[in-house]
Amino acid sequence: MSQNTLFYVAAGVAAVLLLLQRVTAVNKHSSEPPFVPTRVPFFGHLFGVLFEQTSYYARISKQYSHKLYSLAMPGGRVYIVNSPDYISTIQKNPRELSFWFIEASLTKNLGGISDKANAILLENARGDKGSNSLVVDGMKATHKAMAGEALDTISLAAINRAKRAVNESINLGGEIELWDWAQHVFSLAVSSSVYGPENPYENERLTRSLTQFADHTPTFLTGLPAWLFIPKAYKAREAIVARFQDYFAKKADTQASELVKARAKVLREYGIPEPDIARFEAVNGFGILLNLLPTAFWTLWHVLSDPALLSAVRAEALAAGLAANADCLPASAAELKKLDKLPLLTSVMKEAMRHHGAGVAARMVMNDHMLDNKFLLKRDSYVFIPNAAMHFDRASWGANVDTFVADRFTRESGEKIHPAAFRGFGGGVNLCPGRAYSLRLITGVVAAVALRFEGVGVEGWKYPGHDERSMAITLARPLREVRVRFSEREVAAP
Ligand code: HEM
Ligand SMILES: *[C@@H]1O[C@H](CO)[C@@H](O)[C@H](O)[C@H]1NC(C)=O
Repeated sequence: MSQNTLFYVAAGVAAVLLLLQRVTAVNKHSSEPPFVPTRVPFFGHLFGVLFEQTSYYARISKQYSHKLYSLAMPGGRVYIVNSPDYISTIQKNPRELSFWFIEASLTKNLGGISDKANAILLENARGDKGSNSLVVDGMKATHKAMAGEALDTISLAAINRAKRAVNESINLGGEIELWDWAQHVFSLAVSSSVYGPENPYENERLTRSLTQFADHTPTFLTGLPAWLFIPKAYKAREAIVARFQDYFAKKADTQASELVKARAKVLREYGIPEPDIARFEAVNGFGILLNLLPTAFWTLWHVLSDPALLSAVRAEALAAGLAANADCLPASAAELKKLDKLPLLTSVMKEAMRHHGAGVAARMVMNDHMLDNKFLLKRDSYVFIPNAAMHFDRASWGANVDTFVADRFTRESGEKIHPAAFRGFGGGVNLCPGRAYSLRLITGVVAAVALRFEGVGVEGWKYPGHDERSMAITLARPLREVRVRFSEREVAAP
């Protein structure tokens, strides 16, 4: 979900504490990870995080090569993970170093849920009254709804909607802007497969509202009245909520994917009031859509902009049998297996996720915790894992870490990669339940585009650069426009 916005939470919380409390020096314990000094007392790191965002961690991490370190903030500290070695240890303690707790505590401010729903949500969110809670049961239902037969059904539904969207928008002979186009095709494919025939995001204004809502996550999380400070983003959210309240009122969820049905069922079983279910679903839109769109864009960009890679991807797709149908995509659950035969394209997608990774994953320390019998982590502090720092860690990835290596993730490439260094889908119990679905949809559609069309970059495929402003997503978006002219090609040609 919006995991990587979390250092803003800390910043926001810290700022609020500043107003409410007398600033006291952090009571440092000698077993805590080393504290990195700051020139400006109390506020130095807070200002760094506020002004430089994630690049602040990258800079500090380079300057001091601690594998794990502490930043003192007004009112507390945050711990920064600077080595994949510690990620596996962190992932082994998902209840003590909790992502679920963060997810629960975000939903109130982000979704604007009622006090009643919030009380139900936070009941046992700390996990000290047994292992069941709304968040954990909701996650279990989510993972189940994105596996097995349900996975085939939802993947095929997305692919079918994508076929139509590609045909209708490819604008043969004219120009398209690749980021606009990727958002159009993939958001329709994803949202229709998730929400069914009454998909609210079929109206693309609502998809733009979702982006606007998500991009103001930091302000929502401060708990300040959103209607006053960010009226446009507030209205955007309320528009989504209103559409989903209609959607649930007319029982459109009964025709939706297992995912929507299963999550609504858990919410109802826990007694969440019906109007709040729409608010939970508005927040779910982040996890379902927002990371997938830039992943699709960068995969497409790398394939289309590199002629040698493009012909290798075409050859692989032909060998997998994708050209058997006119759309060059599977038409049945059985045909989905063809998408498992695209190791190069799958590697391109993962390498795109590595190379364009941004933001941070966050965990909350639920109780004082000795990490690896070495470091004391204090209760109620955040642990941040900056994705790009892990993705560009030379010790984990090797000397070519800075280069985009299309086949880095294939078995043949022979590269040895630290198992925890790839953060693209997270890891451990919080591993993204949408990964198989996303892999199928993105590799399938990109392969089909590569087979069916010739794309010419109007400006010669100039690298569009990174827009890392959104704290709600784990990949950078493209900064500049990429204009492309597509024409049809002979599918069977190499
Ligand atoms: C290419 C697309 C996607 C990317 C890059 C992505 C990325 C991620 C990442 C990095 C995490 C781990 C967060 C952490 O450990 O802090 C995660 C978790 C999650 N993702 Fe995705 N995701 C994608 C697609 C999806 C889709 C389509 C769904 C819809 C079901 C989804 C639902 C979730 C959920 C519910 C979690 C939390 C899992 C848990 O805590 O058990 N994601 N995702
Ligand atoms: C898309 O266009 C191709 C080529 O014109 C056609 O064969 C195919 O049936 C179309 N697919 C859909 C879903 O409209």
